[in-house]
Amino acid sequence: EKGGYDHFMLKEIYEQPSVIKDTYRGRLHANKGMIQMAGVEDNIDKFTNANRILIVACGTSWHAGLVAEYIFEEFSRIPVEVEYASEFRYRNPIIYPDDVVIAISQSGETADTLAAIKLAKEKGAFVFGVCNVVGSSISRETHAGAYTHAGPEIGVASTKAFTTQITVLTMMALRLAKAKGTMNTSDYQRYLLELELIPEKVEEALQTNEVAKMIASIYKSAPNCLYLGRGYNFPVALEGALKLKEISYIHAEGYPAAEMKHGPIALIDEHMPIVVIAPKQNHYDKVVSNIQEIKARSGKIIAVVTKGDTQVRALADHVIEIPDTAEALTPLLTTIPLQLLSYHIAVMRECNVDQPRNLAKSVTVE
Ligand code: M6R
Repeated sequence: EKGGYDHFMLKEIYEQPSVIKDTYRGRLHANKGMIQMAGVEDNIDKFTNANRILIVACGTSWHAGLVAEYIFEEFSRIPVEVEYASEFRYRNPIIYPDDVVIAISQSGETADTLAAIKLAKEKGAFVFGVCNVVGSSISRETHAGAYTHAGPEIGVASTKAFTTQITVLTMMALRLAKAKGTMNTSDYQRYLLELELIPEKVEEALQTNEVAKMIASIYKSAPNCLYLGRGYNFPVALEGALKLKEISYIHAEGYPAAEMKHGPIALIDEHMPIVVIAPKQNHYDKVVSNIQEIKARSGKIIAVVTKGDTQVRALADHVIEIPDTAEALTPLLTTIPLQLLSYHIAVMRECNVDQPRNLAKSVTVE
C-alpha cells in the first residue's frame, strides 16, 4: 500500500506531479486562456463584489493560505487576511456580509476550522471550502467549494495536500483576476502556461532527493534550524520549519529573511544551519545580502536556488537547485526539497515519520 516506498510520507511527496495535474485537470485550459471551476463560476459575483477575503485554516493549510494571500492580492487586487481558525473563532471577529471566507482543510474535519466556518456563516458571510476529503464535514458546511484532488494523505505530515491547495488557490486568483481585469492579458496567459508546466517541474525538483539526503546526513544532529524566505517564499519557510519540527523533533523556526536583524540573528554561530529559500526572483538581491550577513557570523547556509544560480552558490555551504518558473509559482517548487530534507533527517534520527509522537492526522478536538 506504500507503493514500494518506505513511508507514506515519501510516497505522497513523490505523488505530487500527478496529483497537481489531477487538481488542475478539467479546470485549467491554458490553450483556451480559461479557468473553469464550478464552485467559483456559480458564485462569481460573490467573489468579484467581495471587499475582502478572509482565509481561515490551521497548520500547513494555514501556510497555504499565506501563500494565497500574496497571490490573491497580487493577481486579483482583493485585500486578504489569513487567520488561524483557533484565534478567529474566539475573538469576536469583524465579519461583513460581503466578505468571502475561504476555509482550507485537507481532512475537512479540523474542529477549529469547522467552528470558524459556522461563525462566519452566522455573520452572513459567503463561505468557500478548499478541502481534500470528499464529503467531509467542512465540505458539507461551506456554501460552495473546490476540492483538491490529492487522493488520500496518510502521513501525518502534510505534503501533497499543501501543493494541491496552492494549485487550487492559484487557479481561483487567476480566475478572479480575469473577471476583475486586474492582470494584463500576457501575464495571465503566461501564468496559465507556467501552471500547466508545474507537474513536470515538480518532477525535476524531486531529483534533489540525493542532495537533500546528503545534506540531511550532515545536519541530522543539529538541535536547531532556521528557515528564511521573502515574499511568496516566506510562508514556505514557515512550512519547511513546521515539517522539520513535526517529524524530526528538531526545533526549527521560519522567518521572513529581513526580520533576522530584529532579533534572530543573535542566534547565529557556526553551529546553526539556516535554510534560505533564494530563487532568482524579485527579492533576489535582498536575499543575497541576508546570506552575506549570516555568513559574516559563520552560520551554515543551505540554499534553495534556481538552476544555474552563481551568486548564492558562491556564498552558500550547500545549494539545492530547482527549475525556474513564474515568481508566484515558486512555492510549488521550493517546498519540494524542504519536504525531502525533513523526511531524510527524520529517518536518520529513527523517528516515526508517518506517525510522529503527540500528533493525529485530523485534529478534531479544540
Ligand atoms: O486537515 P487540515 O488541513 O485542516 O489540518 C490542519 C493541520 O492540523 C495540519 O496541516 C497539520 O499542521 C499537519 N500535521 C502539518 O503537517
